Amino acid sequence: MEVKDRVVVITGAARGLGRECALRFGERGAKVAAFDVDWEGLSSLKEEMDGNGNSSLVRVVDVTDEESVMSAFEAVVETFGRVDVLVNNAGITGDHLLVRRKEGDVRKFPLDLWNRVISVNLTGVFLCGREAAYWMTEKGNKGVIVNISSISRHGNIGQSSYSATKAGVVALTVTWAKELAPYGIRVAAVAPGFIDTPMARAVPEKVLEKVVSQIPAGRLGKPEEIASTVLFIVENDYVNGRVIEVDGGLRL
Ligand SMILES: NC(=O)c1ccc[n+]([C@@H]2O[C@H](COP(=O)([O-])OP(=O)(O)OC[C@H]3O[C@@H](n4cnc5c(N)ncnc54)[C@H](O)[C@@H]3O)[C@@H](O)[C@H]2O)c1
Repeated sequence: MEVKDRVVVITGAARGLGRECALRFGERGAKVAAFDVDWEGLSSLKEEMDGNGNSSLVRVVDVTDEESVMSAFEAVVETFGRVDVLVNNAGITGDHLLVRRKEGDVRKFPLDLWNRVISVNLTGVFLCGREAAYWMTEKGNKGVIVNISSISRHGNIGQSSYSATKAGVVALTVTWAKELAPYGIRVAAVAPGFIDTPMARAVPEKVLEKVVSQIPAGRLGKPEEIASTVLFIVENDYVNGRVIEVDGGLRL
C-alpha cells in the first residue's frame, strides 16, 4: 500500500515509538490521527507535525475505554473520511515477580497490576483493532493493521503480564490476518527488542546496562528502526499474519 494520502491511526502516539511512527508517516504524506492519554505529548506532536506541513488530528483516547475508542474512530472518519492503517502501539509495562521471596519478605504479583497491563496491552489492542476493521469494512477500503508486540512474548523474568499480553498480541495478529483477508485487510506485527524510549529508560540503569551488554548490536534500538519496520509492513503487500522481530540480535 502506498502511504501517501492514507489515513493512519496511531495509538500511544504522544511519545516513544508511537510518536516516531506519527512523524515518519507524516513525512511520507499520510494523514495521521494520533491517540494517547497524554494531552501535553499530543499537543507537542501536533505542533511539530503542523510545522512540518503534515495533516494530523490528535485526540485524548484511553484505549481501554470502549466509548472513548469508538468515538475517536468516528471522529477520524468524520475528519478524514476513512481509516486505511492502524498502528496498534499503546502499551505499558507492570513488572513483578510471580512470587518474590527476599530475606523473609514475601510478595505476590498484585492482581490489580496484572489487570492494568492486560487491559491496556490486550483489551486496548482488541478494541482499536476491532474499530479499525469495522471502519475499513464499512467503507469498503483495503487496509493494514500493525500490532506492536515485543520479544518479551517469548517469556521474560518479572514480566508475567507483559509477556502474556505480547504473546496474545501475536495470536490476535494471526487470527485477524485470517479473518480479515477476504476484505483485503492485512495484519502483521513488529516485536521490538530494547528500544531507546521512555519505556526502556524506566528500567533501572544497571539492569539496562546488563541487557545492552547482551545485545549483539551493542546498543539499544532507535525508535526510527521500529518506525521504518512498520512502514515496510504497510508498503509491502505480501507481508501478512507474521511478526518481524527487530532486536539487534538479542533473543529471549
Ligand atoms: N521501548 C521498548 O524497548 C519496547 C520494546 C518492545 C515493545 N515495545 C512496545 O512498543 C509500544 C510503545 O512503547 P514505547 O517504548 O514507545 O513506550 P512509551 O511508554 O514511551 O510510550 C507509550 C505511550 O502509550 C501511551 N499510553 C499508555 N496507556 C495508554 C492508554 N490506556 N491509552 C492510550 N495511550 C496510552 C502513553 O501515554 C505513551 O505515550 C508498547 O506497546 C511497548 O510495549 C517497546
